Amino acid sequence: MISIALTKGRIEKDAVKIFEKAGFGIDELKSKGRKLVFNDSKEEIKYFLVKANDAVTYVEHGVADMAIVGKDTLLEKGENYYEVLDLGIGKCKFIVATLPNVNIFNRIGHIKIGSKYPNVSKRYFEGKGMDVEVIKIEGSVELAPILGISEGIVDIMETGTTLKENGLIVVDEICDISSRVIVNKSSFKLKRNEINEVIDRIRMACNN
Ligand code: PRP
Repeated sequence: MISIALTKGRIEKDAVKIFEKAGFGIDELKSKGRKLVFNDSKEEIKYFLVKANDAVTYVEHGVADMAIVGKDTLLEKGENYYEVLDLGIGKCKFIVATLPNVNIFNRIGHIKIGSKYPNVSKRYFEGKGMDVEVIKIEGSVELAPILGISEGIVDIMETGTTLKENGLIVVDEICDISSRVIVNKSSFKLKRNEINEVIDRIRMACNN
């Protein structure tokens, strides 16, 4: 039996499509209601539908053998797993944004940055030798500079609509993001053949 944590929300639909194309029995996942655990109708696979951070936690603790999760979450919190495949879905970017009349890069001294991703933010600004205080914001991060709690934000941008509609501009792009397959390190040894088969089928479904 293999267990796979799927991140719910934004990438869920595309991930389910890939599993369907790869021939897995994921009919339960397509009409899921409020259920959180699903059995594959064809294979010895169990799926969990979880938040991105929890997908990483479950894999790192070995209660899920594998997970589909965004690179944004991996860059922010993950460390103890193998990243084995880029699914090419959930494509977006980590960006730095501010209100148009603010230049955070020519500031002398301390600036404040709002973000759901404090570690990514700290690493980025430390790399630039800037003195930054990161204020953790859980959602709708675009509000932070509008309300004046921070001068800028580090966030993910997909279409750019949220920034635009809230009057913010991108002042730097940090990196590209997409959804990845991660695997628990012990599972990869103990269930190598089964896991490799799942990875191969997913890889082929992504490439077609
Ligand atoms: C993300 C991100 C932006 C938005 C960007 O938020 O934090 O707010 O999507 O997408 P866009 O460039 O296509 O407009 P999400 O929708 O995940 O919700 P949240 O703000 O509650 O975290």
